[in-house]
Amino acid sequence: MKRIAVFASGSGSNAEKIAKHFTDSEIGRVTLVCTNNKKAGVIDRMKKLGIPVYIFTQEDLENGNVLSRLRSAKIDFIALAGFLKKIPSDILKAYERKIVNIHPALLPDYGGEGMYGMRVHEAVVENGEEETGITIHYVNEEYDDGEIIFQATVDIDPEDTPEEVAYKVQQLEHSHYPGVIESLLQELDD
Ligand code: GAR
Repeated sequence: MKRIAVFASGSGSNAEKIAKHFTDSEIGRVTLVCTNNKKAGVIDRMKKLGIPVYIFTQEDLENGNVLSRLRSAKIDFIALAGFLKKIPSDILKAYERKIVNIHPALLPDYGGEGMYGMRVHEAVVENGEEETGITIHYVNEEYDDGEIIFQATVDIDPEDTPEEVAYKVQQLEHSHYPGVIESLLQELDD
């Protein structure tokens, strides 16, 4: 059984979906949630599920403390779910092709630094796009830039507000992210 760490900076609705998906799984289990935000909603969600949360600082991320914690928790795979910091090179090296991110748009469009959450949906609506979606990709040293693993699309109605688009995209995230992670875990070597 593979041990999954989820990194989240915000509300944590995806982290919760992933954790619940693997509750009784023989393939994987969320055994650690890592956050850089001590006020993040994800902390309460994980408390309710009994999953340990590691709250770290930017310094911890840069000086190897976060990697040490991942190693001591024997983490095999990392899923970013609304995590807004860059992953440092020591962690990228230790977890090559074992770190994935979800982005609430169809990359390479509407990605990059500063493009997260509602900003993405506002830009999509402002540009009159007829569809949007989600992208799950490997993580590298740039924001929203690694190899794309999976995309799913949803139509935008002309009268949709950014909030309505956000809701549609969130539904897509919740229904696909846990299953994509499961498929990737099944491909990992023992
Ligand atoms: C999700 O929509 C995720 O795609 C997005 O943050 C949200 C987190 O929601 N991530 C990015 O924009 C990364 N560039 P959640 O905290 O409810 O899971």
